[in-house]
Amino acid sequence: MVVAMRWGRRPDPDLDLSVQVGSVRLPNPVMTASGTAGHGAELGAYVDLSRLGAVVVKSLLADPWPGNPPLRVHHTPAGMINSVGLQGPGVAAWLADDLPGLVAAGARVVVSIWGRTVEEYRAAAEAVAEAGDQVVAVEVNLSCPNLSGHGIFAQSATASAEVIAATAACGRPRWAKLTALVTDLPEVAGAVLDAGADAITVANTVPGMVIDLESRRPILGGRPGGVSGPAVHPIAVKAVYDCRAAYPDAAIVGVGGVSTGSDAVEMLMAGADAVQVGTATFAAPRSVATVLSQLDRWCRSHGVTRVADLTGAAHDR
Ligand SMILES: Cc1cc2nc3c(=O)[nH]c(=O)nc-3n(C[C@H](O)[C@H](O)[C@H](O)COP(=O)(O)O)c2cc1C
Repeated sequence: MVVAMRWGRRPDPDLDLSVQVGSVRLPNPVMTASGTAGHGAELGAYVDLSRLGAVVVKSLLADPWPGNPPLRVHHTPAGMINSVGLQGPGVAAWLADDLPGLVAAGARVVVSIWGRTVEEYRAAAEAVAEAGDQVVAVEVNLSCPNLSGHGIFAQSATASAEVIAATAACGRPRWAKLTALVTDLPEVAGAVLDAGADAITVANTVPGMVIDLESRRPILGGRPGGVSGPAVHPIAVKAVYDCRAAYPDAAIVGVGGVSTGSDAVEMLMAGADAVQVGTATFAAPRSVATVLSQLDRWCRSHGVTRVADLTGAAHDR
């Protein structure tokens, strides 16, 4: 009781951590971010995967893909930059080799897919359909180079909507993963929601580059890369805020620089229904569990009894 009063806690509050992300009910709002926790149950050595809201696996092409040449990751001030290049085993190998371990660990699995053409997205979605209800949702990573046009899919509302329409065959709720690096993010968000996305995931890494002074060349094998971690957190918070302001009823997953419970609270207040933890996992593999327990503690010390009540709290009502 003394402890409860010192931290301003209400006596024995009943805290409901569950959240609704579109049609998907999760026991809590904290999950891994795609590409930062492996393809399967790798993180299970550090974290009880069944206790997370969900595990989002690295993006998969229908076929195996080798990714980019080294160097693939490098530290930056307040974060990291990567050019992994979406290396992956392909959907069929993932279904056989990685999904069973995740299911055995009791994880709610979100599988991420990508493609360079609309047809490649369609193929990945059709292949993933075999997982059935072993996956709770399919995150469609739209931040990929569009071989049929210029730039990346997520920078075009039309191209993004086309991909979402083409991935319906996966048979699971689709989360459209967007980039904040667009002039009008709500326009792209609206297009994918209209095209059938159950939720939007906001946002992917921010393009950047690091130069090696001795070789006088970009340090990453892929040359540019994606910046992530605390440096991008305010960018992601604004992106989520803008999407929530434009779509009060949409399901939104916030991602970008979440490494503490306070970061998660901020993302929820901006308008996210749930959050993902990525780069923090590279520094400390238990980060996603730490964020969850810190979020739990924050709610209890602030008299919050339903974490879902935090969503959009930063907006004028
Ligand atoms: C090494 C690395 C690999 C990533 N791979 C993917 C990926 O395969 N698919 C994807 O949608 N996002 C990928 N991301 C982006 C993250 O999921 C996340 O959107 C981004 O890093 C921002 O969150 P963070 O600051 O918590 O890392 C990757 C990020 C990193 C650092």
